[in-house]
Amino acid sequence: MKHVFAAALLCAAVAAPSFAQEIKIGYALAEDSHYGAGAKAFEASLKESLGDQFTFRHFPSSGLGGEREVLEGLQLGSVEMTIASDGTLTNFVPEVGVLGVPFLLRDKDHARKVLDGEIGREMLAKFDAAGLHALAWGEQGFRHITSNRGAVEAPSDLNGLKIRTMENPVHIEAFRALGAAPTPMAWPEVIGALEQGAIDGQENPLSVIVSAKLNEVQKFLTLDGHVYSSTIILVSPTLWNGLDDAQKAAFEKAAKDAVTAMRAYVDDVDSSGVAAMQEAGMQVNELSPEQKAAFREALAGPYQQYEAQFGKELMDRIQAVE
Ligand code: PAF
Repeated sequence: MKHVFAAALLCAAVAAPSFAQEIKIGYALAEDSHYGAGAKAFEASLKESLGDQFTFRHFPSSGLGGEREVLEGLQLGSVEMTIASDGTLTNFVPEVGVLGVPFLLRDKDHARKVLDGEIGREMLAKFDAAGLHALAWGEQGFRHITSNRGAVEAPSDLNGLKIRTMENPVHIEAFRALGAAPTPMAWPEVIGALEQGAIDGQENPLSVIVSAKLNEVQKFLTLDGHVYSSTIILVSPTLWNGLDDAQKAAFEKAAKDAVTAMRAYVDDVDSSGVAAMQEAGMQVNELSPEQKAAFREALAGPYQQYEAQFGKELMDRIQAVE
């Protein structure tokens, strides 16, 4: 009798459907943006490694709220995954703010080497203590200024310009030093504020300018590349701590695949985006090296402050990466 019962239990266990775990992933931009490209590549990679163990529900275009709210959801365990910008993440791990120092990262190659190397790994490791688990650095590209007031060619063109910045103290300080009137604001409010004229401009990489169709609310685009903008792919500690070693390895591989997809998207839009925005009616100017030098000079004051805040040693280490 005992044997019959055990056999029945075994049959029931084999026949029982294994339930997939749902991952809610929230991000600020549309599914056809670099964020969507990263999220979809992550999902596809995980499916390839783990089959149907996980299902994904995407919440693009700030469908779960602004980046800060989504990150708080991860901390609470009510959201499983996000891709968020370094500007917002600075409020969770302040050291990340160093990446927002204007003109510190020279080009995408330099930025990718810094983030893929020791410095990037050290920063990712700090997120566990902040109640988040960081998997890898994604990318947005170099940020440029858009406005409705006119082309920006010199720091004086920023005088009094109501420019939306991320809620990032490093950026706010830099735009204040350049004479602008920085207005920190969560991304979901930006398009409406531009439409209503509550702000004159904003700054974001081509990946965002193109995918969010900022040409519909902005006339001028100045390619100044004042700062490199990274993102991080993060999961909630509740999800991470419940995974076994094989699942953790699959998540880490999926994050690498997501980074590859995001960087490919950014490379593509960096070469095609300007023409697309011109065709859509934007007036585009690019700062010459001499014009850029004037912006660097105007930022000499904040630079000393950044060195005091983040440590000259860290800033030197970043600059020394070849
Ligand atoms: O400007 C921002 O807030 C960010 O670059 C964005 C658009 C939300 C993407 O992370």
